[in-house]
Amino acid sequence: MYLCFMDSNPVITIHQNFSLRQYNTFGMQVNAREYTEISEESQIPALLRLIGRYDGKVLFLGGGSNMLFTQDFNGLVVRIATKGIEIVDQDDEFVYVRGMAGETWDDFVQYCVLRNFGGLENLSLIPGNVGSCPIQNIGAYGVEVKDTFYMLDAVSLRTGEFREFFPDECAFGYRSSAFKHELKGQYLILSVTFRLRKHPVLNTSYGSIPAELESLGEEPTVRSVAKAVTNIRRSKLPDPQEIGNAGSFFKNPVVSNQQFNELRTAYPDIPAYAADNLTKLAAGWMIEQCGWKGYREGDAGVHARQALVLVNYGTATGSQIYTLAIQIIESVRSKFGVILEPEVNII
Ligand code: FAD
Ligand code: EPU
Repeated sequence: MYLCFMDSNPVITIHQNFSLRQYNTFGMQVNAREYTEISEESQIPALLRLIGRYDGKVLFLGGGSNMLFTQDFNGLVVRIATKGIEIVDQDDEFVYVRGMAGETWDDFVQYCVLRNFGGLENLSLIPGNVGSCPIQNIGAYGVEVKDTFYMLDAVSLRTGEFREFFPDECAFGYRSSAFKHELKGQYLILSVTFRLRKHPVLNTSYGSIPAELESLGEEPTVRSVAKAVTNIRRSKLPDPQEIGNAGSFFKNPVVSNQQFNELRTAYPDIPAYAADNLTKLAAGWMIEQCGWKGYREGDAGVHARQALVLVNYGTATGSQIYTLAIQIIESVRSKFGVILEPEVNII
């Protein structure tokens, strides 16, 4: 361990050969050549100077819940741990709530749910941090971050310039944004601000939410929808504290309507959703049809209740999970003629 000084004050502590096991939800035992945590925004100028020494070999980490490490990281890993939630503005209709990048996403959501601020309740219990949520425009149960995203603050890693991004600059799409594509690796996201409703408009369009509300015996409210979503998620998705995983390993593929019609002729039960003149297919269904659900080889497997989730039962390596992913891609391609793309970031 050593300290990085700025104006003779130690502001950044750097650890060497640092285990990332507890910082990735797949639980991969890999090391960062160097590792540091940023818990105060005042550390940013020193961080920017430090990054300059690594020739691009820098990886930011939030909760590590969308990462598959297949090898050690031969550079600097920076875990963003800045905390804070603040109401920054409001009017009769809306309240603007800002979360610092290192704030746990679900803590931020529950802060809003408890105050009856509407818009994020369907995104309850998604792992990870506030700073990462715009990167793949996280989504669940009929809602995406882009629906209530107001703006984010970021700093350019190249110029050190601080700037704001509004929705029209973020190119949000399904599991996608400019930060995953043309702006990838160029900005550190510092905070995200949401515009939430004081008079909530609830979204209970996702099939299982009304049924869960009914079994809870509750009318739809911000709190009850959050509770229903939480229950549904717990019933399907493995808890990373118990079984290593990064949620859906693949994106749901989006195909032309013509390709969908051909698939539907061959497979009348294929689940599908309209998506801007295209059709989104359920990758989990296709993986299950290929016989992978519940598959296990050593400690690498496919979750028994959700075939879209690859799991590490303990000692699987990233390469074993990756090999399994390639086998799944190949069998889905061979059976359905559809190419699955990973959703997780593979290092
Ligand atoms: P990390 O995995 O740490 O990082 C993800 C990417 O963002 C990396 O490229 C990293 O370098 C970059 N990054 C992180 N922080 C910053 C920053 N401050 N500035 C710039 N770049 C940064 N996702 C969904 O969309 N919907 C779901 O329903 C869902 N369910 C899940 C369920 C489980 C059980 C798990 C384990 C994951 C699930 N996910 C889901 C995926 C995951 O929770 C999200 O992608 C989440 O936003 C990742 O956040 P993180 O902080 O863990 O990001
Ligand atoms: N299905 C199967 N078998 C399976 C899994 C799913 O047949 O093993 C079928 C279901 O019966 C349903 C359809 O596939 O007809 C969709 O399943 P589900 O509602 O469980 O959602 P998903 O498409 O598998 C997506 C997101 C999740 C998100 C849920 C809820 C992606 C890649 N995944 O999963 O996000 O939580 O919807 O909205 O879009 C994540 O991104 O990490 C993630 C967990």
